[in-house]
Amino acid sequence: MVKSKEWNWAEVKENIWNEPSEDVYYYVSRWKKQGFKKFLDLGCGLGRHSVLFAENGFDTYSLDLSDFGLNALNTKAEQLGLEVKTVLGDINNLPYEDNMFDCLLSYHVISHTDTQGIKVIIGEINRVLKNGGEFFITLCSKNSPSYTKKNYPKLDENTIVKTEEPEAGVPHFYSDLNGVKDLLGNFEVIRIRHIEDIYEDTSGWHYFIHGRKR
Ligand SMILES: C[S@@+](CC[C@H](N)C(=O)[O-])C[C@H]1O[C@@H](n2cnc3c(N)ncnc32)[C@H](O)[C@@H]1O
Repeated sequence: MVKSKEWNWAEVKENIWNEPSEDVYYYVSRWKKQGFKKFLDLGCGLGRHSVLFAENGFDTYSLDLSDFGLNALNTKAEQLGLEVKTVLGDINNLPYEDNMFDCLLSYHVISHTDTQGIKVIIGEINRVLKNGGEFFITLCSKNSPSYTKKNYPKLDENTIVKTEEPEAGVPHFYSDLNGVKDLLGNFEVIRIRHIEDIYEDTSGWHYFIHGRKR
């Protein structure tokens, strides 16, 4: 399995990483109605989603490899008077007990590995979720131009390493729809969407997956 590498948040200038993504509001509302309490933000970054869940009364746990990101989240939470339990850690070896969480979000995170690592990470998600617990995760799609960009070093047939900040040295695993279904074979898949984000000079495709532990 490839060595993990955090984002270099010090190099990030865009504001988008401070505003919750629009689809996450739906999961806050859904999981609140379902009476879910214990929430894990896996690869929380600067903590935009952790803050939203904590504001909505969830018992919020947040993990990332980036000290910079966790410090930003701790500062924000303190300013807002919110309790968020942050930990520096790796998504392929979670420091949480089995069956601990009602719900889990991992937004643009779990693809930061290789073909071997993604199976370990999905196994960790399965382990820490309660039976009946739900997740919303995203995975990089092979439709993305970055998957076939010629100058990225390739680690295996599904994995490249990006070379620009804030992701220089960060591995990216890409999947197609059959790959997504294979990876999530142990879960009940509620919904899969395949979405293109348009940027100034390129675009990126992701699978957005809502599922449940059986
Ligand atoms: C694209 S950012 C997304 C951050 C956050 N989920 C959001 O939506 O704002 C990816 C995050 O995953 C973290 N990350 C990458 N590989 C990781 C790993 N193996 N374990 C924990 N965090 C990791 C990075 O440090 C970064 O903060």
